[in-house]
Amino acid sequence: MSSLATVILAAGEGTRMKSALPKVLHKLGGVPMLAHVLRTAKTLGPERIVTVIGPGMDAVAACAKQEAPEGHIVTQQTREGTGHAVRQAVPHLEGFSGIVLVLYGDTPLLSEATLRTLTQRLEKNPAADIALLAMKPENPGEYGRLLIHAEGTVKRIIEYRDADEEQRALPWCNSGVMAIRSETLFTLLPELTNQNAKKEYYLTDLVGLATSLGKTTLAVDADATELLGVNSRAELAALETHIQQRLRLQWLENGAMLLAPDTVFLSASATHGRDVLIHPFAVIGENVHLGDNVEIKSYSHLENCRVEKGGIVGPYARLRPGAHVGENAHVGNFVEIKNATLAKGAKANHLTYIGDAVVGEGSNIGAGTITCNYDGVSKHKTEIGANVFIGSDTCLVAPVSVGDGAIVGAGSVITENVPPNAIAVTRAKQEHGEGKAEGYWKKRRK
Ligand code: UD1
Ligand code: MG
Repeated sequence: MSSLATVILAAGEGTRMKSALPKVLHKLGGVPMLAHVLRTAKTLGPERIVTVIGPGMDAVAACAKQEAPEGHIVTQQTREGTGHAVRQAVPHLEGFSGIVLVLYGDTPLLSEATLRTLTQRLEKNPAADIALLAMKPENPGEYGRLLIHAEGTVKRIIEYRDADEEQRALPWCNSGVMAIRSETLFTLLPELTNQNAKKEYYLTDLVGLATSLGKTTLAVDADATELLGVNSRAELAALETHIQQRLRLQWLENGAMLLAPDTVFLSASATHGRDVLIHPFAVIGENVHLGDNVEIKSYSHLENCRVEKGGIVGPYARLRPGAHVGENAHVGNFVEIKNATLAKGAKANHLTYIGDAVVGEGSNIGAGTITCNYDGVSKHKTEIGANVFIGSDTCLVAPVSVGDGAIVGAGSVITENVPPNAIAVTRAKQEHGEGKAEGYWKKRRK
């Protein structure tokens, strides 16, 4: 197998997004577009990865670094076209020999399988120097058009702006994804000129240059959906629909049951075990892990959290970052958990906020319990031991602890640590005005 290097072009500002955020950092399935591209690229095991970014795009560089710490990042100071962008990557390809795969940071749906097909086609055809992904979209819009030789290879790519009417009517389009032998790339890149409608150095001109040197370019037919790019918010939303469909299918194929798949939103960074059951209208956000046999009931929202095997969450539950629901633990309706652990078998079934806390094994948190974790300046911790019973409508004013086996009476405001096995009650003593009700009504209703 030939060695592989990938160059990812991500210098575009994406002005049509009308956003302060660089385009490639907009998220799909909760993960930045650029991260999708880098993750897919990495599955091919490239020897080198070079991401080309625009000036001042520190956040894009950070994303590239996080996804591919071994990769290189290079800044294209002036945006002079896709060919110019690839030229910036050349210093980081020095000494490399093999296939260079050029990808766009704003084409995040490309699959590993498609990219493998492309690179393998080039590998298996020693007579060819370039292979590109070609598509026949229903609406070819402004894509570059492929001029095809009779034998099915590509003679030239004509950019839309430079094409005449007849050329614009050609059905086959350039996706932008190109695999090219490194020697050919290094030889031809300096030959590009910007004598065209956009005054840019087009990467696509490499094909015509290769043809003039007697070299061959192969077109590999690809699914136009995978090649959809993002230029606007509407396109981003359309791609979100695609990625959600893909994620739902993946979850179903990997042993999770989604009762109404179209209503469940999944993050590409979420993971799950077997026999997970997800009811309609749940959001499984970023970095969520659901263990085997976990059940997520309707209208629950989860992000950056874990639910261990057998845990039951919802309906109407909210698990915020740092929530850790232990084995067979239950989190019920209108319960919010943030930065807190519920140990094995613990239960918080109704109307509760648990933040910055640990709840021990088998403990039961009554309806309406609140951990008062914030004093207006700092956050404080609540520690609840094992087999504790917290009565309904309890406020636990942190920092505070409740020892193993203790009971807190309903309606208590707990400000001091409760020792193990103690019963703590803080509410005011109940008084009865015997027979006074009748008098009260008489006065009110006269
Ligand atoms: C490009 C192709 C076109 C193809 C289309 C598919 C060229 C000349 N044209 O056109 O044949 O049909 O993609 O979507 O390649 N970029 C840089 N630096 C630059 C210019 C672009 O990094 O100086 C990056 C952009 O951020 C983007 C990618 O390269 O990720 C493609 O650039 P874009 O301007 O969208 O090219 P198109 O005009 O769409
Ligand atoms: Mg484009």
